[in-house]
Amino acid sequence: MRIPIIAGNWKMHNTIDEAVALAKALKDEVAKTDVKVVLCCPFTVLGEVKKAIEGSNIALGAQNMHWEDAGAYTGEISADMLKDHGVDYVIIGHSERRQYFNETDETVNKKVKKALAKDLIPILCVGETLEERESEKTYEIVKSQTLKALENIEKGEVEKLVVAYEPIWAIGTGKTASPEDANAVIAYIREVLKEKYGEETSEIIPIQYGGSVKAANATEIMNQEDIDGALVGGASLKAEEFLAIVNF
Ligand code: G3H
Repeated sequence: MRIPIIAGNWKMHNTIDEAVALAKALKDEVAKTDVKVVLCCPFTVLGEVKKAIEGSNIALGAQNMHWEDAGAYTGEISADMLKDHGVDYVIIGHSERRQYFNETDETVNKKVKKALAKDLIPILCVGETLEERESEKTYEIVKSQTLKALENIEKGEVEKLVVAYEPIWAIGTGKTASPEDANAVIAYIREVLKEKYGEETSEIIPIQYGGSVKAANATEIMNQEDIDGALVGGASLKAEEFLAIVNF
């Protein structure tokens, strides 16, 4: 039985004051749910958000990391640096990183490997563009992204993984995949995991949906059989809206 994971991806939003206020506004309400809630914050607010959620059941996440332990990589952040701040989860291969910062399946693979080796939980993002969807390549794309991200990662290591299926055309656009469509793609991703790692392992790995999730559509999305949670962007920036999603 997989516990649903609802992660807020704050993207490049929230100064320290804003971040702390938001985290504090969520804390008591989140304490009442059994759903796993993760706040994926900008690097600059991780330390303060960690303090703000101390003693709560909210977990801390980051939005990216480098695959090397240390070195001359100006502007980058390592897994150990994230762990210094009490981070447990890290988003890897978000489509915005792939699109604007040249992340490739190869770098995504290196990051997933490093995160797992460092005991961080990777939230691996996969998803197709509108063009790929219209040319009926959705399944091919998610399979290829998933398998390339998990290259040379063994069964014993992968059990902590979380996958997020985010159709790129649904991110920040107000368009969502129909819950049935999203469920079908997610069920397919689980099949891909099953082929690679066997049924038992594939059943452990939560697969979230992301793309314009909001209070108004959360129940329908979350009630789909194969959808184990949501990766929420815009709607995670307002406490009331995010809590309504958490309490789907
Ligand atoms: O990581 C979150 C996704 O990119 C979804 O963003 O909820 O603003 O569409 P959105």
